[in-house]
Amino acid sequence: MQNCKILSIVGARPNFMKIAPFIKAIEKYNSSPQSSKRKVEHILIHTGQHYDVRMSESFFKELGIPEPAMNLEIGSGSHAEQIGSTMIAFEKVIKDQKPDWVVVLGDVNATLACSVIAKKEGYKVCHIEAGLRSYDLSMPEEINRIVTDRLSDLLLTPDLISSENLIKEGIPQGKIRFVGNIMIDTFEASLHKASTLDLWQILKSSLIEGSKLNINKSLDNGYVAITIHRPSNVDKKEILEQIVDFLLQEVTKEFMLVWPVHPRTLKQLNMFRLWEKIVKNKNVVLLEPLSYHEMLRVTMGARIMMTDSGGLQEECCVLGIPCLTMRNNTERPITLTENGGSNILVGNKLEAITTAYNFVRLCECKPSRPALWDGHTAERCLEVILKQD
Ligand code: UD1
Repeated sequence: MQNCKILSIVGARPNFMKIAPFIKAIEKYNSSPQSSKRKVEHILIHTGQHYDVRMSESFFKELGIPEPAMNLEIGSGSHAEQIGSTMIAFEKVIKDQKPDWVVVLGDVNATLACSVIAKKEGYKVCHIEAGLRSYDLSMPEEINRIVTDRLSDLLLTPDLISSENLIKEGIPQGKIRFVGNIMIDTFEASLHKASTLDLWQILKSSLIEGSKLNINKSLDNGYVAITIHRPSNVDKKEILEQIVDFLLQEVTKEFMLVWPVHPRTLKQLNMFRLWEKIVKNKNVVLLEPLSYHEMLRVTMGARIMMTDSGGLQEECCVLGIPCLTMRNNTERPITLTENGGSNILVGNKLEAITTAYNFVRLCECKPSRPALWDGHTAERCLEVILKQD
């Protein structure tokens, strides 16, 4: 039997946590007796959508991801620019590499661009984290998910709700496999390391220039952590200002606020002149984007998480940390309180945020672990791919 050549694609921060365990699964397979007849040749391509050290390189180092074979250096730009440049660059790569499988992950622009080109060139595509749906087409990620899933030959889902979504869309059942959540593999592998990190040290070493750490204030009675970066929350002044006012007027009355700031959010806060008043508040700790382990440590210690990220909804669910998701919908409904998780959708309107915040301030949450979120998803992904031909 011939070796299996897999080309996998990463582009932006959330991809890195998902590729790390997949590469480890390949290494484990290649060093097992099972591989004596057939090895996996793996080529990693980075599109370069995220390029800052703190948004990209630090994750490679920390999660032990090998240097990509190629970086397409796409960088920032409009969606058309990012997707178009990725397509042009990736077309050359795939023509040259001729893989057996192209593996794409999640829902970023790299996922869409490379799955379209792979199919146009006649290659098989496997989508890891298929079937998530927010049913909100104003989210760029939802468009990326729908197109990628429609084109994929193999759709590996993190939960049964996602498998059902695909069946409802008419995707043949034979292409769909429920494998579990690959990000939880990285979460599981990182829990111990994260728990050994000193919180004050993380805060001190990642402070954004101009932000001060109030050493008189203890974190012992809890802190609220926040991360926001979605265009729906940060691109309009009136929305972002309302969120900032809630944080400064309500949250910091009682708790310290730990805020790792995404580059897009930093830019918007400066542009809308909101930055000055946040920096002045002694109970706000403003941080550069954190590494995966650092962010996990911050999450583990938080009383409440406020976020618009996808991955944090899942991590909070498994940890039992109340998560207020600042969106009107989620593609990860398995994490919601009605399904046993710790996640509540609060959107970005003050009234709903305040009501949910006051509710979770006082309640205890239980950890919840959906089926197959067990740390072994990457191995199942590889097994399914190798069984295909
Ligand atoms: C992208 C993903 C989103 C994911 C997020 C995590 C898409 C459509 N969106 O959104 O799903 O949740 O990554 O971070 O792919 N920037 C830097 N340095 C970097 C990268 C970006 O300064 O290394 C700045 C640029 O000014 C850029 C802005 O951040 O314009 C936004 O970056 P972009 O890659 O366009 O999208 P994200 O908002 O990060």
